[in-house]
Amino acid sequence: MRAVNVPAAGEQPQLTDLPTPTPGEGTVLVRVVAAGLNPIDNGIASGMMAQMGMEQRYPVTLGRDAAGVVQALGPGVDHLRVGDEVFGHILLAPPISAGTLADYAVLPAAAVTVKPAGLDFVTAAALPLAGAAAADSITAVDAQPGQTILVNGASGGVGAFAVQLLSARGVTVIATGTADDVERLTALGAAAVVDYTADPVAEQVRARHPEGVDALINLAGYDPGQVPVAAVREGGKVASTTVLPEQSALAAAGLTGTSVMAAPVTETIAALGAQAAAGDLRVPIAEVVTLDQAPQALADLAAGGVGGKIVVSLGD
Ligand SMILES: NC(=O)c1ccc[n+]([C@@H]2O[C@H](COP(=O)([O-])OP(=O)(O)OC[C@H]3O[C@@H](n4cnc5c(N)ncnc54)[C@H](OP(=O)(O)O)[C@@H]3O)[C@@H](O)[C@H]2O)c1
Repeated sequence: MRAVNVPAAGEQPQLTDLPTPTPGEGTVLVRVVAAGLNPIDNGIASGMMAQMGMEQRYPVTLGRDAAGVVQALGPGVDHLRVGDEVFGHILLAPPISAGTLADYAVLPAAAVTVKPAGLDFVTAAALPLAGAAAADSITAVDAQPGQTILVNGASGGVGAFAVQLLSARGVTVIATGTADDVERLTALGAAAVVDYTADPVAEQVRARHPEGVDALINLAGYDPGQVPVAAVREGGKVASTTVLPEQSALAAAGLTGTSVMAAPVTETIAALGAQAAAGDLRVPIAEVVTLDQAPQALADLAAGGVGGKIVVSLGD
């Protein structure tokens, strides 16, 4: 089968033929119709998981999100059948080797659900990791109706879902983005958009809300010192999918913080899929590319400025 893979540590992603995988205990073999890209795909390509102590076994096929058709079931899978149209995610577990940017992929059944009929494969493939990261971040800050919450990094794939899910809960959302993002983020439910390329985000937020916001969902940056926690009122909450300042620094400012490790498990993605199929959750797709364009699309994602999800379509 065709697979976008990194053949050995330090090499670049390339499209080559690899053996079709077979499903084992608790997993399913899916013929991939569409696969959504996420920043972690570039992290894995560069060997990031190995640097964090998780074995990467080469060749490493890239991609974690997928939508497609179940071809075969491993032992112990009882909520899916061969022929089901599904979407799901390859949860992070060592060794990192399998991926979804391929004609076939093996996914853990615990992170696969039947695709609602009203949801097309490309849209479904864009949902799992980004949608779960948004939902899990919202749970982490315990967002309540009437609160005001800053979403830093709102202009990206996770941010689009976080803004919508918060706004649907009756939260006033302050989103970050550039001037180009204002219309899009406002349409998704942001009450205000702060330009992160202008003055420091926390200063801009405090200028509008001198008392501080109730919580921060941080989806950008890898420097703990740049996380705009100063925007949050004393007693407020911080959740981050990237980096978090030291707990002692947060506590000194009267804040509590959570590092979010998104879990795109069946229940979470099924709920997101149902909302998207019902038209209650928009899935902003910035670009749909072919499998041979995927290595370039990964580079585009790393370069920034995409403004939505990139999905690889392999065709029905
Ligand atoms: N922990 C987890 O389980 C988990 C799960 C999912 C994602 N993540 C991480 O969460 C982050 C967001 O994911 P994503 O899929 O939404 O990525 P994405 O689509 O690349 O979005 C990131 C967004 O942040 C914006 N941005 C860049 N620098 C910024 C800054 N200094 N201040 C505010 N915004 C800034 C980017 O704008 P430009 O495009 O204009 O540069 C982009 O719109 C990534 O780092 C990803 O690896 C973690």
